[in-house]
Amino acid sequence: MNPTELSAIRRLRVPHLAGAKRAGEKLAMLTAYDQPTAQILDQAGIDVLLVGDSMGNAMLGYETTLPVSLDQMVTATQAVASGARRALVVADLPFGTYEASAEQCFTAAVRLMKAGAHAVKFEGGARVVPQIKLLSQSGIPVMAHLGFTPQSINALGGNRVQGRDKGSSSQLKSDASAVQEAGAFALVLEMVPAGLASSITAELSIPTIGIGAGAGCDGQVLVWTDMAGVSGWVPSFVRKFGQLREQLASAASDYAAAVRAGTYPDRDHWFE
Ligand code: KIV
Repeated sequence: MNPTELSAIRRLRVPHLAGAKRAGEKLAMLTAYDQPTAQILDQAGIDVLLVGDSMGNAMLGYETTLPVSLDQMVTATQAVASGARRALVVADLPFGTYEASAEQCFTAAVRLMKAGAHAVKFEGGARVVPQIKLLSQSGIPVMAHLGFTPQSINALGGNRVQGRDKGSSSQLKSDASAVQEAGAFALVLEMVPAGLASSITAELSIPTIGIGAGAGCDGQVLVWTDMAGVSGWVPSFVRKFGQLREQLASAASDYAAAVRAGTYPDRDHWFE
Protein backbone atom coordinates (compact mmCIF):
# COMPACT_ATOMS: atom_id res chain seq x y z
CA MET A 1 0.00 0.00 0.00
CA ASN A 2 1.48 3.38 -0.96
CA PRO A 3 0.70 6.54 1.06
CA THR A 4 -2.25 7.56 -1.12
CA GLU A 5 -4.03 4.24 -1.04
CA LEU A 6 -6.01 4.55 2.18
CA SER A 7 -7.90 7.63 1.00
CA ALA A 8 -8.60 5.90 -2.31
CA ILE A 9 -10.43 3.01 -0.64
CA ARG A 10 -14.19 3.36 -1.21
CA ARG A 11 -15.24 1.18 1.72
CA LEU A 12 -12.74 0.81 4.49
CA ARG A 13 -12.83 -2.56 6.16
CA VAL A 14 -10.89 -4.36 8.91
CA PRO A 15 -7.99 -5.72 6.76
CA HIS A 16 -7.27 -2.21 5.41
CA LEU A 17 -6.17 -1.11 8.90
CA ALA A 18 -3.32 -3.61 9.02
CA GLY A 19 -2.39 -2.55 5.47
CA ALA A 20 -2.26 1.08 6.59
CA LYS A 21 0.10 0.18 9.43
CA ARG A 22 2.40 -1.73 7.07
CA ALA A 23 2.43 1.26 4.69
CA GLY A 24 3.04 3.73 7.52
CA GLU A 25 -0.25 5.58 6.85
CA LYS A 26 -1.86 7.14 9.93
CA LEU A 27 -5.49 6.33 10.70
CA ALA A 28 -7.94 9.10 11.63
CA MET A 29 -10.75 7.96 13.92
CA LEU A 30 -13.50 9.99 15.64
CA THR A 31 -16.52 9.10 17.68
CA ALA A 32 -20.02 9.57 16.25
CA TYR A 33 -23.39 8.99 17.88
CA ASP A 34 -25.98 9.99 15.26
CA GLN A 35 -26.68 9.87 11.53
CA PRO A 36 -26.00 13.47 10.40
CA THR A 37 -22.72 13.69 12.30
CA ALA A 38 -21.64 10.29 10.95
CA GLN A 39 -22.43 11.45 7.41
CA ILE A 40 -20.43 14.68 7.80
CA LEU A 41 -17.40 12.92 9.35
CA ASP A 42 -17.55 10.12 6.78
CA GLN A 43 -17.65 12.60 3.89
CA ALA A 44 -14.77 14.50 5.48
CA GLY A 45 -12.64 11.35 5.12
CA ILE A 46 -12.54 10.02 8.67
CA ASP A 47 -11.38 6.39 8.40
CA VAL A 48 -13.02 4.87 11.47
CA LEU A 49 -16.22 6.02 13.21
CA LEU A 50 -16.43 4.83 16.81
CA VAL A 51 -19.89 4.61 18.33
CA GLY A 52 -18.29 5.15 21.71
CA ASP A 53 -19.94 4.71 25.07
CA SER A 54 -18.50 8.21 25.63
CA MET A 55 -21.97 9.04 24.26
CA GLY A 56 -22.93 8.87 27.95
CA ASN A 57 -20.77 11.89 28.85
CA ALA A 58 -20.74 13.65 25.49
CA MET A 59 -24.45 13.44 24.60
CA LEU A 60 -26.58 12.11 27.44
CA GLY A 61 -25.40 14.18 30.40
CA TYR A 62 -24.05 11.26 32.45
CA GLU A 63 -20.97 11.79 34.62
CA THR A 64 -19.36 8.53 33.49
CA THR A 65 -19.88 5.90 30.79
CA LEU A 66 -21.22 3.37 33.31
CA PRO A 67 -24.98 4.05 32.91
CA VAL A 68 -24.92 3.59 29.10
CA SER A 69 -27.10 0.63 28.09
CA LEU A 70 -26.81 -1.84 25.24
CA ASP A 71 -30.17 -0.62 23.87
CA GLN A 72 -28.78 2.94 23.68
CA MET A 73 -25.66 1.65 21.89
CA VAL A 74 -27.80 -0.32 19.42
CA THR A 75 -29.86 2.79 18.56
CA ALA A 76 -26.73 4.93 18.10
CA THR A 77 -25.02 2.21 16.04
CA GLN A 78 -28.01 2.00 13.66
CA ALA A 79 -27.89 5.78 13.23
CA VAL A 80 -24.13 5.95 12.62
CA ALA A 81 -24.14 2.96 10.26
CA SER A 82 -26.85 4.61 8.18
CA GLY A 83 -24.72 7.75 7.83
CA ALA A 84 -21.42 6.05 6.97
CA ARG A 85 -20.50 5.05 3.42
CA ARG A 86 -16.70 4.74 3.49
CA ALA A 87 -15.73 4.60 7.15
CA LEU A 88 -15.35 1.45 9.22
CA VAL A 89 -17.99 1.54 11.98
CA VAL A 90 -16.84 0.22 15.37
CA ALA A 91 -19.29 0.04 18.30
CA ASP A 92 -18.46 -0.08 22.00
CA LEU A 93 -19.80 -2.80 24.27
CA PRO A 94 -21.06 -0.88 27.30
CA PHE A 95 -20.23 -1.63 30.93
CA GLY A 96 -21.82 -4.84 32.22
CA THR A 97 -22.45 -6.48 28.85
CA TYR A 98 -19.25 -8.50 28.29
CA GLU A 99 -17.15 -8.92 31.45
CA ALA A 100 -18.89 -11.99 32.95
CA SER A 101 -18.15 -14.48 30.16
CA ALA A 102 -17.29 -14.95 26.50
CA GLU A 103 -20.90 -16.05 25.87
CA GLN A 104 -22.31 -12.86 27.43
CA CYS A 105 -19.92 -10.84 25.28
CA PHE A 106 -20.90 -12.74 22.12
CA THR A 107 -24.63 -12.16 22.72
CA ALA A 108 -24.12 -8.41 23.21
CA ALA A 109 -21.75 -8.11 20.24
CA VAL A 110 -24.23 -9.83 17.93
CA ARG A 111 -26.80 -7.08 18.71
CA LEU A 112 -24.29 -4.38 17.71
CA MET A 113 -23.28 -6.23 14.54
CA LYS A 114 -26.96 -6.66 13.57
CA ALA A 115 -27.37 -2.91 14.14
CA GLY A 116 -24.74 -2.27 11.45
CA ALA A 117 -21.36 -2.25 13.21
CA HIS A 118 -18.41 -3.76 11.32
CA ALA A 119 -16.52 -4.47 14.54
CA VAL A 120 -16.89 -4.07 18.30
CA LYS A 121 -14.61 -2.59 20.94
CA PHE A 122 -14.36 -3.39 24.63
CA GLU A 123 -11.98 -2.59 27.46
CA GLY A 124 -9.43 -4.88 29.11
CA GLY A 125 -6.33 -7.02 28.56
CA ALA A 126 -5.63 -10.59 29.66
CA ARG A 127 -8.95 -10.77 31.54
CA VAL A 128 -10.96 -10.45 28.30
CA VAL A 129 -8.84 -12.83 26.19
CA PRO A 130 -11.59 -15.54 26.15
CA GLN A 131 -14.05 -12.90 24.88
CA ILE A 132 -11.68 -11.74 22.12
CA LYS A 133 -10.97 -15.34 21.06
CA LEU A 134 -14.65 -16.34 20.82
CA LEU A 135 -15.67 -13.23 18.89
CA SER A 136 -12.71 -13.34 16.50
CA GLN A 137 -13.32 -17.02 15.79
CA SER A 138 -17.01 -16.22 15.19
CA GLY A 139 -16.28 -13.56 12.57
CA ILE A 140 -16.76 -10.54 14.82
CA PRO A 141 -13.67 -8.30 14.61
CA VAL A 142 -12.54 -6.92 17.98
CA MET A 143 -10.76 -3.64 18.70
CA ALA A 144 -9.17 -3.82 22.16
CA HIS A 145 -8.80 -0.87 24.59
CA LEU A 146 -6.02 -0.50 27.19
CA GLY A 147 -4.46 2.22 29.36
CA PHE A 148 -7.09 4.44 30.98
CA THR A 149 -10.27 2.42 30.57
CA PRO A 150 -13.22 4.69 31.46
CA GLN A 151 -15.51 1.83 32.52
CA SER A 152 -13.02 1.10 35.37
CA ILE A 153 -12.95 4.74 36.53
CA ASN A 154 -14.00 3.76 40.06
CA ALA A 155 -11.22 1.20 40.43
CA LEU A 156 -8.64 3.51 38.81
CA GLY A 157 -9.59 6.45 41.06
CA GLY A 158 -10.32 8.98 38.28
CA ASN A 159 -9.07 9.98 34.83
CA ARG A 160 -5.39 9.12 35.27
CA VAL A 161 -2.48 8.41 32.97
CA GLN A 162 -1.72 4.67 33.12
CA GLY A 163 1.62 2.85 32.82
CA ARG A 164 3.89 5.46 34.39
CA ASP A 165 5.73 3.04 36.69
CA LYS A 166 7.70 -0.07 35.82
CA GLY A 167 5.11 -2.57 37.07
CA SER A 168 2.13 -1.00 35.30
CA SER A 169 4.05 -0.35 32.08
CA SER A 170 5.15 -3.99 31.82
CA GLN A 171 1.56 -5.06 32.63
CA LEU A 172 0.34 -2.84 29.78
CA LYS A 173 2.89 -4.35 27.40
CA SER A 174 1.91 -7.88 28.32
CA ASP A 175 -1.83 -7.04 28.00
CA ALA A 176 -1.14 -5.54 24.56
CA SER A 177 0.56 -8.76 23.40
CA ALA A 178 -2.24 -10.85 24.93
CA VAL A 179 -5.03 -9.03 23.04
CA GLN A 180 -3.09 -9.25 19.78
CA GLU A 181 -2.42 -12.95 20.34
CA ALA A 182 -6.14 -13.52 21.11
CA GLY A 183 -7.11 -12.05 17.72
CA ALA A 184 -7.82 -8.33 18.21
CA PHE A 185 -7.36 -6.42 14.93
CA ALA A 186 -6.47 -3.07 16.53
CA LEU A 187 -5.80 -1.58 19.94
CA VAL A 188 -6.85 1.75 21.46
CA LEU A 189 -4.29 3.14 23.93
CA GLU A 190 -5.81 5.81 26.15
CA MET A 191 -3.82 8.19 28.39
CA VAL A 192 -0.53 6.29 28.24
CA PRO A 193 2.92 7.98 28.26
CA ALA A 194 4.03 8.68 24.68
CA GLY A 195 7.22 6.59 24.94
CA LEU A 196 5.37 3.53 26.21
CA ALA A 197 2.70 3.87 23.47
CA SER A 198 5.46 4.11 20.83
CA SER A 199 7.22 1.01 22.09
CA ILE A 200 3.93 -0.98 22.20
CA THR A 201 3.20 0.25 18.66
CA ALA A 202 6.61 -0.94 17.47
CA GLU A 203 6.19 -4.34 19.10
CA LEU A 204 2.70 -5.09 17.74
CA SER A 205 1.74 -6.03 14.19
CA ILE A 206 -1.83 -4.73 14.71
CA PRO A 207 -2.40 -0.96 14.53
CA THR A 208 -2.57 1.11 17.72
CA ILE A 209 -4.94 4.07 17.93
CA GLY A 210 -3.92 6.64 20.53
CA ILE A 211 -5.98 9.07 22.60
CA GLY A 212 -3.72 11.05 24.89
CA ALA A 213 -0.93 8.60 24.01
CA GLY A 214 1.41 10.72 21.86
CA ALA A 215 2.24 10.79 18.16
CA GLY A 216 3.90 7.36 17.92
CA CYS A 217 0.64 5.41 17.54
CA ASP A 218 -0.58 4.20 14.14
CA GLY A 219 -3.67 6.41 14.39
CA GLN A 220 -5.50 8.84 16.63
CA VAL A 221 -9.02 9.00 18.03
CA LEU A 222 -10.89 11.82 19.75
CA VAL A 223 -14.43 12.34 20.98
CA TRP A 224 -15.91 14.41 18.13
CA THR A 225 -17.58 16.96 20.43
CA ASP A 226 -14.19 17.64 22.07
CA MET A 227 -12.40 17.85 18.71
CA ALA A 228 -14.95 20.26 17.20
CA GLY A 229 -15.27 22.52 20.25
CA VAL A 230 -18.78 21.57 21.35
CA SER A 231 -17.83 20.24 24.79
CA GLY A 232 -17.48 22.71 27.65
CA TRP A 233 -14.52 21.01 29.36
CA VAL A 234 -11.97 18.95 27.43
CA PRO A 235 -9.00 16.85 28.62
CA SER A 236 -5.56 18.48 28.25
CA PHE A 237 -4.55 16.18 25.36
CA VAL A 238 -7.39 17.49 23.14
CA ARG A 239 -6.80 20.09 20.46
CA LYS A 240 -10.01 21.90 19.47
CA PHE A 241 -10.16 21.98 15.66
CA GLY A 242 -13.39 24.02 15.60
CA GLN A 243 -15.58 26.37 17.65
CA LEU A 244 -18.97 24.73 17.12
CA ARG A 245 -20.20 25.64 20.61
CA GLU A 246 -19.84 29.36 19.87
CA GLN A 247 -21.25 28.97 16.34
CA LEU A 248 -24.35 27.10 17.55
CA ALA A 249 -24.94 29.61 20.36
CA SER A 250 -24.67 32.47 17.88
CA ALA A 251 -27.08 30.79 15.40
CA ALA A 252 -29.60 30.13 18.21
CA SER A 253 -29.44 33.70 19.54
CA ASP A 254 -29.77 35.16 16.01
CA TYR A 255 -32.85 32.93 15.49
CA ALA A 256 -34.41 33.98 18.82
CA ALA A 257 -33.78 37.65 18.04
CA ALA A 258 -35.39 37.30 14.58
CA VAL A 259 -38.48 35.54 16.03
CA ARG A 260 -38.86 38.21 18.72
CA ALA A 261 -38.40 41.03 16.19
CA GLY A 262 -40.91 39.45 13.79
CA THR A 263 -38.32 39.30 10.99
CA TYR A 264 -38.55 35.51 10.83
CA PRO A 265 -40.46 33.99 9.13
CA ASP A 266 -40.57 36.36 6.16
CA ARG A 267 -42.15 36.00 2.69
CA ASP A 268 -39.42 33.61 1.49
CA HIS A 269 -40.18 31.21 4.34
CA TRP A 270 -43.99 30.80 4.39
CA PHE A 271 -46.61 29.30 2.11
CA GLU A 272 -49.12 31.48 0.17
O1 KIV B 1 -16.07 5.73 24.04
C1 KIV B 1 -15.12 6.32 23.52
O2 KIV B 1 -15.24 7.44 23.01
C2 KIV B 1 -13.82 5.67 23.52
C3 KIV B 1 -12.67 6.49 23.06
C4 KIV B 1 -12.25 7.35 24.18
C5 KIV B 1 -11.56 5.65 22.57
O3 KIV B 1 -13.71 4.55 23.90
